[in-house]
Amino acid sequence: MTAERMHAASAESTAIVDAVLDYSRRRMLSDFVPLDKPQTPEELIRLTGGRTITDQGLGATRALATFEHVLAPACLSTSHPLYLSFIPTAPTMAAIAFDLVVSASGLYGGSWLEGAGAVHAENEVLAFLAREFGLPDSAGGVFVQGGTIGNLSALVAAREAAKARLVAAGKELPTRWKIVCSTEAHSSNKSAAKVMDADVLLVPAGEDGRLHADGVRAALAEHGDEVCAVVATGGSTNFGIVDDISGIAALKDEFDFWLHIDGAYGLTAMLAPEARPIFAGVERADSMIVDPHKWLFAPFDCCALLYRDPDNGRRAHTQHAEYLDTLTDADDFNPSDYSIQLTRRPRGLPLWFSLATYGVTAYREAVSATLALTQRIAEEIARRPELTLVRDPQLSVVVFERNGWDRADYDRWSDRLLDTQHAFVVPSSHAGRPNTRFAILNPLTTFDDLVGILDTMK
Ligand SMILES: Cc1ncc(COP(=O)(O)O)c(C=O)c1O
Repeated sequence: MTAERMHAASAESTAIVDAVLDYSRRRMLSDFVPLDKPQTPEELIRLTGGRTITDQGLGATRALATFEHVLAPACLSTSHPLYLSFIPTAPTMAAIAFDLVVSASGLYGGSWLEGAGAVHAENEVLAFLAREFGLPDSAGGVFVQGGTIGNLSALVAAREAAKARLVAAGKELPTRWKIVCSTEAHSSNKSAAKVMDADVLLVPAGEDGRLHADGVRAALAEHGDEVCAVVATGGSTNFGIVDDISGIAALKDEFDFWLHIDGAYGLTAMLAPEARPIFAGVERADSMIVDPHKWLFAPFDCCALLYRDPDNGRRAHTQHAEYLDTLTDADDFNPSDYSIQLTRRPRGLPLWFSLATYGVTAYREAVSATLALTQRIAEEIARRPELTLVRDPQLSVVVFERNGWDRADYDRWSDRLLDTQHAFVVPSSHAGRPNTRFAILNPLTTFDDLVGILDTMK
């Protein structure tokens, strides 16, 4: 038993790799993937037999069996077509398969020196997304872990740019920076402000759930140079509603401010020609994010962060250290310079492989089909006397109430759906009233699937 056995290409290693690839293959290509459900810690301790980490190791066969038969069934299949809660995920076969390759190859995506080929491919995807969103050719950025880190990185870059602008103008810096966003904005923007020790100016969304220019104008007029960024949401999490981006972007003619678009969930809808008008104005943004692990069919965890002028990202985020000088002194494009992270896997590669494999048209069709399915199920909900549509959907989230139900009714119904492995649909609420929602983005979700769930609410 030598330590080298863990790394050597040996018969033992071959058996481990074969077993893991065989499991991955079976899981990916199975006709029937269960929804599964969580277990209590006590139950998991009992089922795993107590400790799985021991001095001598269990061996791959037992460790993998523990995962396959105990741990995996205690994890929800978030890419299941009837997982309709929060924001699901739905990676393509090509993207999932290629995720294995990213791990297999020891790829490092932080610097051009170490990962030129991977960084080139990621940059091609970022350039494609920038074009889709109407940004200039000079736009660029980096794939980060998720929308939370993407928003934080963009907002830090916004603050650094605001600081530089005020210093250049000989103005005093504010004691506290302010970030303007809607009451419907994602919690990660508030979390970013907290990390930055900045204040959030919450502008109430309109009756339609959208942030409008009037409220933003008032905030900018009152707080002026203290505002380092305005965040417009391109698809709110709860309702999939898009702010009045064009009205907010037009305020750039009156005020000098950084516009950030939080499109973590919804910006992908711009791939569908019919949805593009909803996003008019995004082309004026200074930064934006979209999460490929949501509607761009990549596996967890992946957020594309784009800057109109990537130098703003670099100025805010490049880390300096003696051992890094060889990287930072070069003129190369180093992805780590553009966000809050240094070491990074090239997490954009599964998306690159999937786009390169299937082509963009397949993506456009998938997004269009989901938008159409959402409209169709919303009409069905509106038609049913026992249900009330809370708002007309704009993208692919439908929120509705079961008339007469209180929160406990929703909880019981939702638990039953999961217990019977029918679907994962959790309760939500709006304006203090309980409701539920379908967040749809998996191309395998069908109208009949959704009707089947509605039928359980009669
Ligand atoms: C609009 C929006 N912004 C940001 C986030 C945060 O993204 P992540 O969970 O990838 O950190 C989400 C997540 O659902 C979101 O819907």
